[in-house]
Amino acid sequence: MSQGGWVAVAGLGPGSAALITPEVTAALAGATDVVGYVPYVARVAPRAGLTLHPSDNRAELDRARQALDLARAGGRVVVVSSGDPGVFAMASALFEVLEAEPADRRGPEIRVLPGITAMLAAAARAGAPLGHDFCAINLSDNLKPWGLIERRLRLAVQADFAMAFYNPRSATRPDGFARTLAVLKDACGDARPVIFARNVSLPDETIRVVPLTDTLPEMADMRTVVIVGSSQTRVIVRDGTPLVYTPRSVPP
Ligand SMILES: C[S@@+](CC[C@H](N)C(=O)[O-])C[C@H]1O[C@@H](n2cnc3c(N)ncnc32)[C@H](O)[C@@H]1O
Repeated sequence: MSQGGWVAVAGLGPGSAALITPEVTAALAGATDVVGYVPYVARVAPRAGLTLHPSDNRAELDRARQALDLARAGGRVVVVSSGDPGVFAMASALFEVLEAEPADRRGPEIRVLPGITAMLAAAARAGAPLGHDFCAINLSDNLKPWGLIERRLRLAVQADFAMAFYNPRSATRPDGFARTLAVLKDACGDARPVIFARNVSLPDETIRVVPLTDTLPEMADMRTVVIVGSSQTRVIVRDGTPLVYTPRSVPP
């Protein structure tokens, strides 16, 4: 086995090159191989000495094995995710594969390089909706049962967290987000602001702020991150544009 290989699991941020960290840029500059889902690998500029290995969406564990094998053969491998690689992304998949390996095969060097996750980029565009306690929930039921999602939604409302939702609605899961909105309308019982942030940081970015009572399932797709305020979240309208923020304190 060649020496010197490594794996960096890196977050490319929400889309704009301006939101890629210098640490990730440096890792890509030193890489021999880039592994990842097709649209994320497409964000890396080809160059001499760099081999791109795009793969399909559902192939996370195979992709992680491929990255480890390339590094064991001496490659300097960057596994790319959008946003942050530890948020509903490749870092956990890599560790899942590593844990299943025998103890004497747990090399090579592995680093996780953070990125700006979609909910933080979206929150910054909308104001400061996550300024007090909040939680993040992946609404896809591909990797967990729907009943657990619904339970977490109800408990998050009960705890009065602001909430950020990833993977809200896809062609293969058209009904889940409608059910999510029904649960929220029932559990919240108010018109708190909901932010639909689509393609954040990209040229066709849209940010919509809608009272919960007026929300519709069609307002979200797989390019959208949704932020629901807590009961304390406020909207300030300035020149016709809403700014959403959650105060830092809750009265005793
Ligand atoms: C599989 S998750 C990956 C999340 C990613 N690791 C992160 O930290 O942002 C994909 C989901 O992230 C959200 N997302 C990613 N990029 C986005 C963007 N530029 N604008 C809005 N939402 C985005 C969407 O909810 C999408 O369905």
